[in-house]
This record gives sequence, C-alpha cells and structure tokens, in this order.
Amino acid sequence: MTVLKILRYPDPRLHQVARPVEVFDDALRTLVKDMAETMYAAPGVGLAATQVDVHQRVIVIDVSETKDQLQVFINPQIVKASAEGRIYEEGCLSVPGIYEEVERPGVVRVRAFDENGKQFEIDAHDLLAVCIQHEIDHLDGRVFVQYLSRLKQNRIRSKMLKSDREAA
Ligand code: NI
Repeated sequence: MTVLKILRYPDPRLHQVARPVEVFDDALRTLVKDMAETMYAAPGVGLAATQVDVHQRVIVIDVSETKDQLQVFINPQIVKASAEGRIYEEGCLSVPGIYEEVERPGVVRVRAFDENGKQFEIDAHDLLAVCIQHEIDHLDGRVFVQYLSRLKQNRIRSKMLKSDREAA
C-alpha cells in the first residue's frame, strides 16, 4: 500500500470533473486501498480520488471513532436529499487548517457501487451525510471553500499560497 500525495487548494487539478468507473478490476481495488491508507495517514474522515489527482469517481470514508469502518463509494449518486438543511463546520485535507461552516441537506440517500462492482444504497445522516456530499463535490471539481463568500475564498487562497511558499 502507498500513501499518495494530496493536492492542495488552489491547485487547478482540484477543479477537474472525474469520470465514472467502468471496470471494477484489481487496479481499482489497489487505488481504493491506497486512498484508504492516505486518508488514515493524513488523518482524515474522507478522501475523493480527485484529491490524489486520479480523476475517477471513487470515494473512501471512515467516520468511526475507531477508524476501522471503511466505506467505499464508487460512482456515487445522491438519489434523495432532505429539504431540511444542516450546518456543519467542514474541513478538507486539500485545504489544511481551514474550517468553515457550510449548510447542506441533513439526510441523503446515496446509491453507489463497492470496489467489487456490487450496487448498494444507504441513507446517510449527520457527519456521514456531510462527508458524502463534500466528497461528491470533489468528484465534480468543487472544493468546499467555494460555498463561502468571494472575500473569504480570496483570503483562504492567499493563505494557502503563502504557506506553500514557506514550505518550499
Ligand atoms: Ni475535502
């Protein structure tokens, strides 16, 4: 297993739209394993393939306290979303150190495939619902800071670029 490099905002590759997975093969399962390893190492609760510069619709999530409940969503689709919204403070491995409130539907029904090509559907609440929507956004080339005001986005962009320069 390999820990992959995570792209950092405002890297333009984070805005690429991912393509659906068509073949459920060993290469896909290796990608899922490497993404899980990368997420746990970070550590984080979710990771989209886009964030490791692989533009396929693959997400890994683990919202458990014990970090042993890996959930894999391939070609995920939200088939139902509650009208009622919930506000959560979100963060992102591609925007380290930034936490901001975002409002999203509180409950979503998600249809997806596992890494063996088996389709499933789940109702997600709370942190899992937030996480799935946040990660699907990544697959659509959207980073959570894009829900914030222009002013805040500019401030975050400058801050990230400055810390990249300092790290270089
Ligand atoms: Ni993220």
